[in-house]
Amino acid sequence: MHPRVTRAMDRPAVNHRGEEFKQLIGELSAGLQKVWQTRGPVVTITGSGTAAMDATLGSLLTQQDTVVALSNGKFGERMTEIAKRYAGTVKTVAAPWGQPVDLHQVETHLRGGAKALVLTHNETSCGFVHPLEKLAKLAHQHDALVIADCITSVGGADIPVDRWGVDAAIAGSQKCLGAPPGLAFVSVSERAKAKLKEHPSLYLDLGRYLKKHAESDTPFTPATHLYFAALEATRMILEEGLDKRFQRVAQTADATRAAADALGLELFAHPDHRSQTVTALNIPRGITDKQLRGGLKDMGIVVSGAQDAIKGKVFRVGHMGTVTLRDIAGFFGNLEVLLTRLGHKVPAGAAAQAIAKTLG
Ligand SMILES: Cc1ncc(COP(=O)(O)O)c(C=O)c1O
Repeated sequence: MHPRVTRAMDRPAVNHRGEEFKQLIGELSAGLQKVWQTRGPVVTITGSGTAAMDATLGSLLTQQDTVVALSNGKFGERMTEIAKRYAGTVKTVAAPWGQPVDLHQVETHLRGGAKALVLTHNETSCGFVHPLEKLAKLAHQHDALVIADCITSVGGADIPVDRWGVDAAIAGSQKCLGAPPGLAFVSVSERAKAKLKEHPSLYLDLGRYLKKHAESDTPFTPATHLYFAALEATRMILEEGLDKRFQRVAQTADATRAAADALGLELFAHPDHRSQTVTALNIPRGITDKQLRGGLKDMGIVVSGAQDAIKGKVFRVGHMGTVTLRDIAGFFGNLEVLLTRLGHKVPAGAAAQAIAKTLG
């Protein structure tokens, strides 16, 4: 998080039903609309990203509905699991983690009749990205809503929600927006609005959030200081400019891939589907997860491990939010030192050269 974002929280309590906070909600909502590139509402829920996934699916799906769910990573599995709680029939199109799903199978299921296509746009668990624009087009051809977990892509990659026809694009405050965890957001298209029904959970009922959103208000007590931080983070995104931000993130992604390649590290996700905001790398043979991530931690660098079947085999480098080329160059300089110390042969200075090349 940028210090401006953390500093925004250092202020006294505020009346969350007062005029001052209403204005804040209004500015935040307008800012989020710009980041989502939508004319429709983007509602804020106090809760983590999963709260918005749950709110969206539970407010749109019923036991009479069939949905098509894509699953090729941890969070696709979670979307599918949530969908199963609300929809009568869930047709899952699965692929191994990090590999693309079969689009013909998606189309076959959609042709059979489905209320929604449910997917995780950017699969953080394995650094994979689905072709969202193409999938949205396909879903609309078959009159299905598109519900996308964009938790690690909105604000870090170009997702013109209205132009692509994403009916619900979900995000969390702590990822590409660069704010603290604890808020979740979801855009709601007119098409989705027309299909809303009461959520079995009162707290997660999207209809209630939409109603209050129209009055720059919230149905329940908002986490006020997280709102202050999210507003500052949104202001910073708009000051940077969406295009410039997406370019910066793309540049850090390019640099990460080039440096990894130069160090002989393999990327986990399919080459045509690599995420712009997080890169998953195979841990080199002969080195353990503990040696790698522990060694980096000792150098003051935190990278994530992986979950489930790829736990201990993969590590993940985030290049979203405030991460810059300088951070990536610094990271790979340190990684080169660590790998050398661990006895993994790397050509000296290779990462720096590869990164320089990506800059032209
Ligand atoms: C793609 C994706 N979906 C969903 C989630 C879950 O979000 P949260 O932990 O904020 O509930 C995450 C968290 O890492 C994620 O990366």
